[in-house]
Amino acid sequence: MTNILTITDLSKRFGAIVASDKIDFNLKSKEIHALIGPNGAGKSSLVKQIIGEIRQDSGKISLNSKEISYMTTSERVCHGLARTFQVTNVVGEFSILENVMLAVIGYTRSSFSFFISKKRYKELYDQARCTLVDAELDHKKDILASKLSHGERRQLELCLVLALRPKIILLDEPMAGLGLDAIDKMKEIFSKIKVKTPILLIEHDMNVVFSLADRISVLVYGKIIATGDAFTIKHDKQVQQAYLGI
Ligand SMILES: Nc1ncnc2c1ncn2[C@@H]1O[C@H](COP(=O)(O)OP(=O)(O)O)[C@@H](O)[C@H]1O
Ligand SMILES: [Mg+2]
Repeated sequence: MTNILTITDLSKRFGAIVASDKIDFNLKSKEIHALIGPNGAGKSSLVKQIIGEIRQDSGKISLNSKEISYMTTSERVCHGLARTFQVTNVVGEFSILENVMLAVIGYTRSSFSFFISKKRYKELYDQARCTLVDAELDHKKDILASKLSHGERRQLELCLVLALRPKIILLDEPMAGLGLDAIDKMKEIFSKIKVKTPILLIEHDMNVVFSLADRISVLVYGKIIATGDAFTIKHDKQVQQAYLGI
């Protein structure tokens, strides 16, 4: 599997605090790679450097071999970096399909005009439906967004991100506030989505991490102390001492 996101020797300090300490990390095609670690380990700082909210002191971040570390956040989004769930542009009075159509049209810079060809409209419509199928919301396409449950609204937010056709998705605590059924649903959807769009997952719920992630990296004091599958991470002595409290 090829690396889609590659982070090399990334360092970031805040005064005396080393938030990122020579981090090497990659996200491969078709995988969910979870980043875990205790509070203050540097997870948010790493995410902020990936999305361009803060600038690294040294090292680099590449997306599909193109360096993005010096781009603005919106340039990175144009290059295929997507982040949920901070999308709040769901329009409650519109149907789910209409919401996704708006996202697709916005992304392709098409416009609803008298002159939009039937063929073009059909393409955009098919793309929206395809995204809805991926997020398991197609059967609810005609329902008003305001009528969705909490979990379904997350699914719709995911749709709006997928409509941008990103190369990778960064999921920051996607299960926060969801009930067990909604968590199971999201797990199923993420497992399906990763085949087209690999996922970098930041998640506190260890049951979710261990059951969903193909690989897990453990961050402690700004350093990645281990990377591996769930079994490897659970049985890693250093991880057990530093994080799992065993
Ligand atoms: N803007 C900032 N200024 C100073 N210190 C910061 C800033 N952001 C984060 N830190 C420090 O960097 C360390 C890592 O923080 P953070 O990335 O938020 O960790 P996590 O998300 O894993 O809890 C912490 O010690 C935190 O206090
Ligand atoms: Mg944090």
